[in-house]
Amino acid sequence: MTDAFTGFTRTKYCGEFRDSDAGSAAAVCGWVQRRRDLGGLIFIDLRDRGGVLQLAFDDGTARDVFEKAQSLRSEFVVAARGKIRERSAKNAEIPTGSVELEVAELYVFAESETPPFEVAEDSGVNDALRLKYRWLDLRRPDMQRNLILRHRVAKITRDFFDENGFLEIETPYLTKSTPEGARDYLVPSRVHPGEFYALPQSPQQYKQLLMLAGLDRYFQIARCFRDEDLRADRQPEFTQIDVEMSFVTEEDVIALNERFLERVFREVLGEELALPLPRITYREAMDKYGSDKPDLRFGLEFRDITDIAKTCGFKVFADAAATGAVKLISIPGSADKLTRKQVDSLAEYAKTVGAKGLAWTRVTGDGASSSYSKFLTDAENALILRRAEAVENSVVLIVADASEKACATALGAVRCEAARRLGLVKPSDRALLWVTEFPMFEYSEEEDRYVATHHPFTAPLGGDADKLESDKASCRAKAYDIVMNGVELGGGSIRISDPETQSAAFRALGFTEEAANGQFGHLINAFRFGAPPHGGIAYGLDRLVMLLAGADSIRDVIAFPKVQNASELMLGSPSAVDEKQLSELGIRV
Ligand code: AMO
Ligand code: AMP
Repeated sequence: MTDAFTGFTRTKYCGEFRDSDAGSAAAVCGWVQRRRDLGGLIFIDLRDRGGVLQLAFDDGTARDVFEKAQSLRSEFVVAARGKIRERSAKNAEIPTGSVELEVAELYVFAESETPPFEVAEDSGVNDALRLKYRWLDLRRPDMQRNLILRHRVAKITRDFFDENGFLEIETPYLTKSTPEGARDYLVPSRVHPGEFYALPQSPQQYKQLLMLAGLDRYFQIARCFRDEDLRADRQPEFTQIDVEMSFVTEEDVIALNERFLERVFREVLGEELALPLPRITYREAMDKYGSDKPDLRFGLEFRDITDIAKTCGFKVFADAAATGAVKLISIPGSADKLTRKQVDSLAEYAKTVGAKGLAWTRVTGDGASSSYSKFLTDAENALILRRAEAVENSVVLIVADASEKACATALGAVRCEAARRLGLVKPSDRALLWVTEFPMFEYSEEEDRYVATHHPFTAPLGGDADKLESDKASCRAKAYDIVMNGVELGGGSIRISDPETQSAAFRALGFTEEAANGQFGHLINAFRFGAPPHGGIAYGLDRLVMLLAGADSIRDVIAFPKVQNASELMLGSPSAVDEKQLSELGIRV
């Protein structure tokens, strides 16, 4: 039996009661977390957004109220009024653990069927079930904390950029394809049969046009859509903190954004960022860590042994060194933790990330044992271990590949996996850095042409402007990424702002003049009417919140995310639509 809701005013959230409230009248409402029935004594843990409060019913409780308490089950929605008193058995684990509500009145507003899983942190429920019953999953305190944190980051963002003279301006969702590198989500037009809008992959072109319009400083918390394969840090729709500024250089954008991050870290985590943040160039990041988003919470820098490998007798090394590279990492203090078997398991892992093999040496108190030393001379082996600075109790891991990039990328992945397996990172460790001087273009094997590393509106680095068309492989960009704990948190650049350079960039990407004008004529044309120098950045808000919350996946900081195959399990999208809708759109499936 439920009570009609005729109005109820709570004193405060369940989790907010403390010692000092003892003796005062209180009214609370929420969900039944748990009922403990000890015969003459009933305890209910009542949960709401603010936490949990214990409700107590005993022989002093009116009979009808006591009986109502006996009928309560998990997830019933109730309200209670009474007096806060000190608890006899205190619970130091929760903030309200020293008080309880001595209940005088109890109302049951809704009953609940037995939920498909217990609403509790770390309940070990599989993700599909959690997402199917997301409204229950979101009752979990950890999920609520994440969404509250997300709200706070959004609020700080709005405050910070507002205080710094930025205007929040909305840009369209029904738009035209933007070339951010992923596939577009298309929306058919009813009015123009056979024509489609694209959902924006980012507001890139609009924000640049706002600078041309003289709005000077723009930001937006913008939803973006990219039809790409999902990963733990990727969703098909996600949110960017999108920023653009006029009359700025890289230094201005970076300096302002460091102050933004400083503010976020201070207000959300209570931590002071040491500014300026470290910077490394893309080249250095690839050479030392095999990644353009290196995780600097641990060292394990690469050492190059291509020179030694070139002339050695081990064919695997020598062949790779002829055109590519042979690189190693040395992990001190690890031989006692990485057994032979575990090194073999790392070698298996290496294959899954593109390595042709993983050669290794374990240096223990008994000397060095190695998977490759028998193919080399003693002198060569000694040279490698010296280059590795391999002291006792180290493990040295080596990757050889005929492509330098493949070598670095594979060893980069092994570096992170080894650190993970060895527990080299503490949850409280944070490493933020800028990666700068990205290449303008990268060669896409798949498309057999150069594509823009960032996007085609990025300006070339001052000294490299003349290489835009003549030396694509070595032309660098005024582009920067902000990286945290091995995750690309955001990226941006100074933009091209003159029509000639923009046309040259399109030519470099293989666009004919006709194709460039067809797709980007509006921008090239706009540059003819007074374009200020401008640049900006976009953060993945979901990723930022994920890292601040210490979550493993951005799904845990998005209220209603999609699963791996891009479907949404609760409402069940995508789904078929009826014939009539399709025929109105002129679509046959
Ligand atoms: P970029 O493509 O690097 O740049 O995107 C900026 C940031 O958005 C986040 N992000 C994602 N987050 C979740 N799921 C995804 N699928 C996803 N894709 C990207 C990342 C990334 O760093 N217009 C440019 C920015 C600029 O030049 O100002 C842009 O979109 O954290
Ligand atoms: P093998 O002669 O195949 O037993 O190789 C000797 C060692 O070299 C093994 O540990 C292999 O895993 C390793 N190895 C093979 N190919 C490569 C490679 N491309 N890079 C690094 N190590 C390799």
